[in-house]
Amino acid sequence: MARVAGKKVVITGGAQGLGACFGRMLADEGAKVALTDINFDGAKATAAAINEAHPGAAIAIKHDVTSKDDWVEALGEAAEAMGGISVLINNAGIGTAGSIETETWEGWRRTQEIDVDSIFIGTQLAMPYLKDDQPGSIINISSVAGLIADGMMLSYNAAKAAVWMMSKSIALHCARSGYDIRCNSVHPVFTRTPIIDPLVELGGGGEEGERRLVRQIPLQRLGEPEDVGYCILYLASDESRFVTASEFKIDGGITAQ
Ligand SMILES: NC(=O)c1ccc[n+]([C@@H]2O[C@H](COP(=O)([O-])OP(=O)(O)OC[C@H]3O[C@@H](n4cnc5c(N)ncnc54)[C@H](O)[C@@H]3O)[C@@H](O)[C@H]2O)c1
Repeated sequence: MARVAGKKVVITGGAQGLGACFGRMLADEGAKVALTDINFDGAKATAAAINEAHPGAAIAIKHDVTSKDDWVEALGEAAEAMGGISVLINNAGIGTAGSIETETWEGWRRTQEIDVDSIFIGTQLAMPYLKDDQPGSIINISSVAGLIADGMMLSYNAAKAAVWMMSKSIALHCARSGYDIRCNSVHPVFTRTPIIDPLVELGGGGEEGERRLVRQIPLQRLGEPEDVGYCILYLASDESRFVTASEFKIDGGITAQ
């Protein structure tokens, strides 16, 4: 039996990187996936590639997660296409660099808007669908940056810490309301997607830039999207049916130091 057969999954930021990988891995295990992204062409290309292997498993939806109107449309379209929504993966996000002395108000606000506010808006709007399609699972992509700080990641640290604690509040509300809807956060370390390109450049670019990141990780390598994807498969499936309000560190050991 496929691990997530019958699951109807909305993945924000599904055009590339982690979101695209989650879409492929979930479809391989029997789920239907709606890949939403502000980059509609990218989402369409990823959905087309998934459909080549699993005809009809994926759709692409144009969606800016900072827009409430877009959320209403995207969730409606996804539910219509998949016959409901049982899993929401709040994955879309941006990384930003800046210290308390260099970060701008605009940079701070943009990071909170995309990485945090979107999860409030989207999860609230998704609740009626998830309640109609229990058991449900909400998976919020935070970061190790939500658990440990860096002097140059002011806005990102604050945003991802908010995602961590919001996830617990959502989980407790659902549990105490008697809903079979779980909510957990996932905290990757540097993982090989386009989001880490500026960090690699900051460290001198190329192999040297990567080495500077790897040096901080006890397992001595960058994460691969699939490393995070296996955690997502578990959390989307009923294998994790007793797991809620938890944080999953996919971090090569970095937060233990
Ligand atoms: N890759 C890592 O090292 C790493 C580590 C920790 C956490 N994360 C988190 O994982 C998530 C996915 O990141 P990734 O590594 O795949 O990065 P990525 O940049 O490859 O992908 C992010 C996706 O989000 C989309 N997006 C950005 N703004 C959007 C908006 N307003 N509306 C809709 N879509 C939007 C982008 O178009 C892109 O497809 C992010 O939340 C990120 O913070 C990544």
